[in-house]
Amino acid sequence: MKESKPPVILCVDDEPQNLKLLQAVLSPRGYEVLTVQNGFLALEILKTQPVDIVLLDVMMPGMDGYEVCRKIKEDESLRHIPVIMITALTAKEDRIKGIEAGAEEFLNKPFDTTEVLARINMLLRVKNLNDKLRKAYAQIDSLTGFSERLILSFDPLKFDFISTIDVVVYQILSQKEEFNKPQTVVAGINGNRDWIIYSFADGRFERNVIYGLPLKIEPLKDSVRGGFFNKEQELNSDIETVLKFLSKQNISVENMTYYLSDKLSLIAINYGRQVTVYDASVMHNIFLHILFMNSLSQQVKETEDAFVYTIYALARSAEANDEDTGNHILRIGEYAATIAEELKLPQLFVERIKIQALLHDVGKVHIHPDILRKPGKLTIEEFEHMKQHTVLGAKIIGNHPKLKMAANIALHHHEKWDGSGYPYGLKGENIALEARIVTIVDIYDALRSERPYKPAFDHEKAYRIITEGDGRSMPEHFDPQILKTFKSVASKIEEIYEKNK
Ligand code: C2E
Ligand code: SIN
Ligand code: FE
Repeated sequence: MKESKPPVILCVDDEPQNLKLLQAVLSPRGYEVLTVQNGFLALEILKTQPVDIVLLDVMMPGMDGYEVCRKIKEDESLRHIPVIMITALTAKEDRIKGIEAGAEEFLNKPFDTTEVLARINMLLRVKNLNDKLRKAYAQIDSLTGFSERLILSFDPLKFDFISTIDVVVYQILSQKEEFNKPQTVVAGINGNRDWIIYSFADGRFERNVIYGLPLKIEPLKDSVRGGFFNKEQELNSDIETVLKFLSKQNISVENMTYYLSDKLSLIAINYGRQVTVYDASVMHNIFLHILFMNSLSQQVKETEDAFVYTIYALARSAEANDEDTGNHILRIGEYAATIAEELKLPQLFVERIKIQALLHDVGKVHIHPDILRKPGKLTIEEFEHMKQHTVLGAKIIGNHPKLKMAANIALHHHEKWDGSGYPYGLKGENIALEARIVTIVDIYDALRSERPYKPAFDHEKAYRIITEGDGRSMPEHFDPQILKTFKSVASKIEEIYEKNK
């Protein structure tokens, strides 16, 4: 534990005799005494080093004591330092002037030693409490900023438990205030079997992992325990276990805050001073934030998984009547995401189209199997019926905002850029972007695949039909920019087909 430093007293008087006298009274009592002969020098010292109390003569040439006092009290970084005015005057108006300048206390010359010491003692106690309050406030402030950053950057689907712990611990350990921060943080994960030991010294952040070293604190299931510990403090059984565990890692503990649970444990060790209930609550707060974000993220991920799973299930059900189209629906998502990525569309768009494109032909559940499986060319009536799979698909998907893309794709994936498509004959950008992307990859995949009405073509032939046209399909059918992108990623598209046929 660090020895607490002696209080620093700054004495300001133009009379060297008085300064000597004060020094003689204060130094033997263990105070560190600084002396200066005018207000300018006093203010200079105050700005460059910590001072706990100022003893200030009133009558001084240049700048009188009132003015020095006023300057101290006007300065945000100095005003918490108590000021005692020393005056030979006893007139009431002068005291009032002193009070108005912000002085905390008054002493009369010549001094009474006992009185000087008693006043100083009392003001130091007040300052001490004040300092504690200011530190606690600074901690709350930094904790709030810290929580804010954590929450603002929180994305439940991207959340990663370990890297969040890394970032949080880094922030704790790299704080500028040496005084406020621990030297080492130990994080327990995987049911407290694996441990990460972090430290930050000489500007270097270190992170070491130890596997399979269980900390056995029973029973901990679904409960959180923790608090703080200073050497010489009484031990409880949790603290004892933690200390024993840490000593096995050759970590000796002067003080620590600790929070333990079966999902995560955090132990912050050796702050630059004794720890308090404030340090414990800062750690508690950080600890709860991580656990809360982890559990929220797990729930959101589970819901998202179930959502994706349901889309697959629905897409597969539409294939039931169709001739075996194999992995067609899966490939469509992959191709569409590849094109969207190459078009530099937002990541969210890419992720969505990859899943939602699978539902493009879901309307085919309403088309009679005899049509879907017909080996030859469809009659005009049959094809008219077939065209309905777009409108019917959009109807099945409905109007949930999260499935807007899927509904657009189902409805528009047979529209053509030049307006010759169905069901509405939409033109150009009136066709939803996601559908313009799916159109081209749907045709590519149909060309590569065997259908009851056609054989499978190789990549070159499919590529040629799309880029040069064959009468049924023409390059004008496609959004020119998407056609260009298709050409530039054609080898990736071929790879997707080969991998998933
Ligand atoms: P699908 O078999 O999945 O084909 C999707 C799209 O790929 C077709 O949309 C068409 O644009 C393109 N495509 C497929 N095969 C060829 C081809 O040999 N050459 C060219 N140039 N493009 C091709 P489309 O025409 O609107 O047809 C929609 C759906 O209607 C097809 O989905 C398929 O299920 C059915 N269909 C279309 N034509 C026939 C047919 O002649 N016989 C049968 N049995 N079904 C057909
Ligand atoms: C932080 O790292 O900013 C929060 C921890 C603290 O206030 O001590
Ligand atoms: Fe279709």
